[in-house]
Amino acid sequence: VVKGNQIFLNFDQAELVINKDVYGHFAEHLGRCVYDGIWVGPDSDIPNYKGYRLDVLEALKELQVPVLRWPGGCFADTYNWKDGVGPRSERPKLVNVFWGGDVEDNSFGTHEFLELCQILGADAYIAANVGSGSVREMIEWIEYMTSDQDIPMANWRRENGREEPWDVKFLGIGNESWGCGGEMTPEFYVNLMRQYSVFARQYGGSDMIRVGCGSHQFYYHWTEVLMREGRNHMEALSLHYYTIPTGDWGIKSEATGFDEDLYFSALRNALRMDELLKGHIEIMDRYDPEGRVELYMDEWGIWTDPEPGTNPAFLHQQNSMRDALIASLTFDIFHRHARRVQMANIAQMVNVLQAMILTDGDRMILTPTYHVFNMYKFNQNATYIPVEITTEKYAFENETIPAITGTASTKDGKVFVGLSNLHASETLTIDVDISGGNANRVLKATILTAPEFNSHNTYDNPNVVAPAEFAGYELTAGNLQVVIPPYSVVTFEME
Ligand code: AHR
Repeated sequence: VVKGNQIFLNFDQAELVINKDVYGHFAEHLGRCVYDGIWVGPDSDIPNYKGYRLDVLEALKELQVPVLRWPGGCFADTYNWKDGVGPRSERPKLVNVFWGGDVEDNSFGTHEFLELCQILGADAYIAANVGSGSVREMIEWIEYMTSDQDIPMANWRRENGREEPWDVKFLGIGNESWGCGGEMTPEFYVNLMRQYSVFARQYGGSDMIRVGCGSHQFYYHWTEVLMREGRNHMEALSLHYYTIPTGDWGIKSEATGFDEDLYFSALRNALRMDELLKGHIEIMDRYDPEGRVELYMDEWGIWTDPEPGTNPAFLHQQNSMRDALIASLTFDIFHRHARRVQMANIAQMVNVLQAMILTDGDRMILTPTYHVFNMYKFNQNATYIPVEITTEKYAFENETIPAITGTASTKDGKVFVGLSNLHASETLTIDVDISGGNANRVLKATILTAPEFNSHNTYDNPNVVAPAEFAGYELTAGNLQVVIPPYSVVTFEME
């Protein structure tokens, strides 16, 4: 057991709220995320509620999903929303050009999405088609969804079975417009964004939060141009960051069966989220020092090779204990940037990339990442307690990363502490200095760990990586001493 790690909770500096939307999700028409993963249709043999699979719904409800982004992704800039409303049997089919060229029957459209949001209690985040659509199509979509007046689009919605308008909170002005959304330059896109944004605010009586399509990775110039020329036309700006274990988009590496080199490099690359946020926020702060424009990391997560034997365009990957650590350390980073980071959307909800849930026919498994979302959900709308961590390093070959990451927050008189031991082999002891607050009793202590750092759940063994009650701590006056096994996440709720 190695000693000498410490985390200090600055209770007196707790003031920023962690927006619940940081625990948001993303569901794209991609592979088996929407079709199969969420939607099987009312006539399916798979138990469903009005076409949504019941097992998945129940699992998602437990997570308290605050916001759901849809329909893409790259798909959004090909989507014709009008083909996805009206009687399902009459809806035209479409080719999903970005994700395998499959023909979809449009049976999951605007009504099905917005009803899903209602069932989950999630706010809706719609991505408008800027790449191949028009301002007029976007205006009509807004009217269809949100108008209560006697006008053609609202009346069409009524004819299609929905009397009341929906409350659609967020509107994305395109997706990855620098890439699959149109290969635009920022100088070109920012003018389009301003045009779409003006009309987005005039129709449907809505005051949707308009999200400018943001940058990805370390492409700072995009953020610079959007903030310089577009900041008055958006309430939020997005950003995308995917963790590629190898750092090479051409050879991403397998989701399971990897050795310590890829365990380490994936965690190291995920930790770069902090540097990335600092870089983009520094630009935003220059143009918007009061922090009016929010930053939405509306796609994030680990991206590995797809599962062998699956359609590579479906991005169906397994999920290991390593990915659970990527989720926890990323939330630790998001919390630190709570002032600007007001939303994040894991890519993606079911069956695609770093999914919460995997399905196969009528079977379903919860992934290690799901469990972190569940263990960390206390943080939704909690007040962040700034933490100072002194931790030893986890060294691999010539590089090091912090061996422990952590976070803390407070809500309703309770205190949350989350700690992740990233080390591949060492059990670590850490002292949590809680002397500044009123946390004298552990209400709940949970651990997520696994036999190996690359362990994962399967349909035959669904609980290889599953949370358990945790007893490896000792609480004395003002100090919580925690002994954390390697590759583990532990969380505490205290009062
Ligand atoms: O999440 C998968 C894809 O990754 C999305 O469609 C796109 O926005 C990003 O490149």
